[in-house]
Amino acid sequence: MEIKDKVVVVTGGAAGIGFAMCRRFAAAGAKVVVADIQGVDEAVQALKAAGGVAAGRVCDVSQESDVVALMQHVVDTFGGIDVAVANAGILRDGLLLKVDKETKKVASVLTLEQWQRVIDVNLTGVFLTGREAARQMVNRGRPGVIILMSSISKEGNFGQTNYSAAKAGVAALGVTWSKELARFRIRVNVIAPGFIGTPMVLKDMKPEALEAVKKQIPVGRLGDPDEIAHAAHFIIENDLLTGSCIAVTGGMRL
Ligand SMILES: NC(=O)c1ccc[n+]([C@@H]2O[C@H](COP(=O)([O-])OP(=O)(O)OC[C@H]3O[C@@H](n4cnc5c(N)ncnc54)[C@H](O)[C@@H]3O)[C@@H](O)[C@H]2O)c1
Repeated sequence: MEIKDKVVVVTGGAAGIGFAMCRRFAAAGAKVVVADIQGVDEAVQALKAAGGVAAGRVCDVSQESDVVALMQHVVDTFGGIDVAVANAGILRDGLLLKVDKETKKVASVLTLEQWQRVIDVNLTGVFLTGREAARQMVNRGRPGVIILMSSISKEGNFGQTNYSAAKAGVAALGVTWSKELARFRIRVNVIAPGFIGTPMVLKDMKPEALEAVKKQIPVGRLGDPDEIAHAAHFIIENDLLTGSCIAVTGGMRL
């Protein structure tokens, strides 16, 4: 699919990887809709200031009514949806159990709130985004592309019970939907980034954890958000690509 003049909606599009995608797609001539819980107006202004065509919508992807309204808003604004990127995601890292060094007994556990919020945003949010985007694409009767954001952590990562489970689920959604939606000319692919220099990593991760991670990246650096946007651009352009999970990790493996 040629991205020029296509309508692209990106959840979590106001910062980090999502904003890098919006910037790249707008520069390539797409009509971009930024969907986020915060920073939407600023992101849209920045895209327009750079000469892009952009609109925005406040949307919490964990809320069904928000996502239904988002996709309808995209259709009402630009006439349809060609590409949807389910990118919004959060971290609430923690060990399953923390054991007291003195007593050797469990002192605390990963809370249900930590578990549930990550599942709600990172898995249910992707389900809702993909479902509602596909609904609009099928009703319009034109080809579409859906990109889901997983992570290297889908393999299972220390301190990331909730995040790893959600991201493994996202990878499975990509395969399932690629099978179900091919008949409607909708391609579905997954990107599994390694560690990328975004607010999620630079602000949310503990500095000591980040230093330990950097030592495990063969290319010796964090990824740039635009390198993930570049992978998304490739997915959009390659009409044979569906059901794939592309790892963009600088060689890192868990
Ligand atoms: N940065 C990395 O190293 C990395 C690695 C692997 C996967 N990922 C995944 O890539 C995606 C983007 O990550 P990022 O690093 O750019 O994160 P980020 O925290 O920098 O940006 C995420 C954006 O999502 C928005 N958001 C959060 N909750 C939301 C919700 N409920 N509804 C709508 N928007 C919401 C935030 O406001 C923010 O603008 C996430 O799914 C993340 O899990 C990131």
